[in-house]
Amino acid sequence: MKKASIILDRDYLIGRIDKRLFGSFIEHLGRAVYGGIYEPDHPLADELGFRKDVIQAVRELNVPLVRYPGGNFVSGFQWEDSVGPRESRPKRLDLAWFTTETNEVGLHEFADWAEKVDSEIMYAINLGTRGPMEARDIVEYANHPGNSRYSDMRIANGRKDPFNIRLWCLGNEMDGPWQMGQKTAYEYGRIANDAAKMMKWVDPSIELVACGSSGSGMPTFGDWELTMLNECYENIDYVSLHRYYGNPTGDTAGFLARTMDMDDFIRSVASICDAVKGKKHSKKQIHLSFDEWNVWYHSAEQDKEIWKQDKWNRALPLLEDVYNFEDALLVGSMLITLIRNADRVKIACLAQLVNVIAPIMTRNGGGCWAQTIYYPFMHASKYGRGTALQAIVDAPVYDCSDYENVPVIDAAATRGDDDSLTVFCVNRDLTEECALSLDLRSFGDLRMTEHIVLHHDDVNAVNTEENPREVFPGSVPTAAPDHGRVTVKLQPLSWNVIRFEKKPID
Ligand code: AHR
Repeated sequence: MKKASIILDRDYLIGRIDKRLFGSFIEHLGRAVYGGIYEPDHPLADELGFRKDVIQAVRELNVPLVRYPGGNFVSGFQWEDSVGPRESRPKRLDLAWFTTETNEVGLHEFADWAEKVDSEIMYAINLGTRGPMEARDIVEYANHPGNSRYSDMRIANGRKDPFNIRLWCLGNEMDGPWQMGQKTAYEYGRIANDAAKMMKWVDPSIELVACGSSGSGMPTFGDWELTMLNECYENIDYVSLHRYYGNPTGDTAGFLARTMDMDDFIRSVASICDAVKGKKHSKKQIHLSFDEWNVWYHSAEQDKEIWKQDKWNRALPLLEDVYNFEDALLVGSMLITLIRNADRVKIACLAQLVNVIAPIMTRNGGGCWAQTIYYPFMHASKYGRGTALQAIVDAPVYDCSDYENVPVIDAAATRGDDDSLTVFCVNRDLTEECALSLDLRSFGDLRMTEHIVLHHDDVNAVNTEENPREVFPGSVPTAAPDHGRVTVKLQPLSWNVIRFEKKPID
């Protein structure tokens, strides 16, 4: 058995965790909207056509923020298509995903759904094929109280009170050659700056996310952030990061080490933001919005086949990755990485939420079930609120194809506002248990209330509609801390949530 230790101190803080760290994403892509959240003919559809089983699954996941309506989709999107009487909304070819967008669900309908699942909207505007003028128009439509062209249009469309959308994305992945309206960093920085100014003139209370490079592997990465921030630093609030990982070669040890890259990525973008801050003698601190993250690779070949046979159909079953057990472990580690960087990453969106690279799956006319990755997200969102603590981890390390010295234990800890303590950890070891000793002396008398474990003997195990609990969390017996120290056993390849609360005084 391997041995590792973690020291935690109630006063050694990383920072406050913004609840928006547990956001997600619904794009007009595949069956995310049509057949996912919205299926008016489904036996479980509510009065507005939304699936009640999906609403329930999203509510249990505790998602405080949902990015919408894309993604790549926004770069060809005209927001005016998605409002007003449904019968006069146009059908458009969507050049991002080669499908037809019917606009049956638009801003008003999505806002109704977001309210039902208790989430705020993070609204992405089109800065690919449209510009600052259309950007300020949609802010006026959504947030201005009334007595102006677009706010009156909203009222005429049935919504008297403003939507009050606080958080806006200034386009999406604008350095990607796959993007409609791809730009150079300078072109993007200029247009983002103008859009930001005009949007904030309409509503000064909004917050804006500028596009970082679409990935750390892009040739543009780094220079993109530096150049575009040089143009728009004072008018934006966050820079976006996007990252997806895959394991096409079946190298579990290497796959589970990918969060080393995620950590580096976050640190690099934060450093560039700070470099621009220094150069500009600015007092403003830019934070990070990791607004697309997940595992994504399983559906790649399937999608090529779908497009060969079915281009331009509505709601094609695209990006329907079936997640296995090892994907849940990496998603757990990605959540740990986000919590550990909570001082700089204030917003993050698991991409996406329903059917499209998603924790929640549905069958048209049929059931709704949770994929393996649903569980670490649910635990982190539920118990990862409050303040992130510095976890001093001492663990054996391993080397793999891309990284050296990967700790077998990946961990983060949070202190809840109710003074509870939660330790999240992944044992990356493929075969060995780990005896993890926790030094919690500064917390006084604690009681371990729960040790949740997600484990399966087969890294390829998946959940399906017929067998939705193949990979499902369980609990192991708790141990009693002795003078602030306690040792727990972590199964090989496992996600663990270890929870403590103050011991009541007898
Ligand atoms: O989430 C799927 C797609 O991935 C998004 O549309 C795009 O922003 C990214 O490339």
